[in-house]
Amino acid sequence: MSDLMSIIKGRRSIRRFENRPIPEKDLQQILEAVQWSPSWANTQCWEIVVVKNREMKERVNEALSSTNPARKGLPDAPVVLALCGKVGSSGYYKGEASTKLGDWLMFDLGLAAQSLCLAAHSLGLGTVIVGSLDHDKAKEVLGVGEGYQLVALIPVGYPAKDSAAPKRREIAEFTHYEKF
Ligand SMILES: Cc1cc2nc3c(=O)[nH]c(=O)nc-3n(C[C@H](O)[C@H](O)[C@H](O)COP(=O)(O)O)c2cc1C
Repeated sequence: MSDLMSIIKGRRSIRRFENRPIPEKDLQQILEAVQWSPSWANTQCWEIVVVKNREMKERVNEALSSTNPARKGLPDAPVVLALCGKVGSSGYYKGEASTKLGDWLMFDLGLAAQSLCLAAHSLGLGTVIVGSLDHDKAKEVLGVGEGYQLVALIPVGYPAKDSAAPKRREIAEFTHYEKF
């Protein structure tokens, strides 16, 4: 298997972290992976809040419901990245949506999130994309301004517990040749 395929297939959502810092150069490399992600017309609408302070991590964690499986471990991660995006930028031309799909912010942030998680995994670090939360609450805690959406929280750290790979659909089940 190529290195890339083993990184793609080997990445798992990690929900428990060791309470120890990650090297600053690793964090920079993870942010570089976001920097070089593709985006609509290279709009690069992403903004990232890096949260290391324990109290801030705990406050932002309050935005997750008590049943969110990421909630127990999130504050232990040495770094929590809040992935935010500028509204009305990706997919827009001269202030008008270019396609019927409107804002492509979610798409671009999704690509950035995958780059981020794969880069972290390649460095031996675990991540989980946390999208199920009270977004307004998290925005307020982190002071995310008007005109920006906070889309996901991504804790990053050394995995304390491995996760098994959830089953995937067969390729033949989702691939359509020539017509849907
Ligand atoms: C957009 C998005 C939102 C997610 N939100 C959460 C979440 O709120 N809590 C959580 O524990 N996992 C969350 N996940 C992780 C998924 O549950 C996980 O990716 C999926 O089960 C596949 O497992 P794997 O990442 O180990 O391959 C989210 C993943 C994505 C892509």
